[in-house]
Amino acid sequence: MGHIQITPSILNADFGRLADEVARIPSADWIHVDVMDNHFVPNLTFGPTMVEALARSTETPLDAHLMIADADRNAPAYVEAGCGSVTFHVEAAAAPVRLAREIRAAGARASMALKPATPIEPYEDLLPELDMLLIMTVEPGFGGQKFLDLCLPKIRRARAMMDKHGIETWLQVDGGVSLDTIERCAEAGADVFVAGSAVFSADDPDAMVAALRAKAENAISA
Ligand code: DX5
Ligand code: ZN
Repeated sequence: MGHIQITPSILNADFGRLADEVARIPSADWIHVDVMDNHFVPNLTFGPTMVEALARSTETPLDAHLMIADADRNAPAYVEAGCGSVTFHVEAAAAPVRLAREIRAAGARASMALKPATPIEPYEDLLPELDMLLIMTVEPGFGGQKFLDLCLPKIRRARAMMDKHGIETWLQVDGGVSLDTIERCAEAGADVFVAGSAVFSADDPDAMVAALRAKAENAISA
């Protein structure tokens, strides 16, 4: 397991002033950008041009979460836009191994996401191709949804597979992560935590990043 990282999602931030919103969370390890195309998920956010502008406005690296159809064709643009990590959904990729290799070759960390009902078992042999695995803990599409506890056993099984293969793939959780749920995720083996509404609805978002980090660190040291 890697060290604990907090990657706040800007999905519930003020889209009219994103650079200011990102400046409110200087202690974030990455900024999680949720790209939605109204096809893969029933919601629409922004594309590579906007992501590139955001990348230029902050020193914090961007962690792109692509909830878009035809990932094979559309994902590489987000490496070019300046994202340090690019996550595609396996449900939207025709050739996930080729795509992960392409993302790495272009200079970003390659990551693959699973929706809550997508099992990890078929992808065990693919894990060494990935720098990070994202296990969704809500159905993708919207911020502010309730955390799905039914995803916890999959997090545990994924971490056990990584340990078995002796690989240090980061394991990210996304959806409903808050002070109430982050410990369960950390105990199950997650080490990278997306939090959207928890961070941006807090009076002091950066203090919330610190509080989430402390809870996760505490959960694995206990
Ligand atoms: C959901 C997105 C998440 C979401 C997280 O489709 O991928 O990143 O914004 O928001 P919260 O933390 O509010 O569930
Ligand atoms: Zn996300």
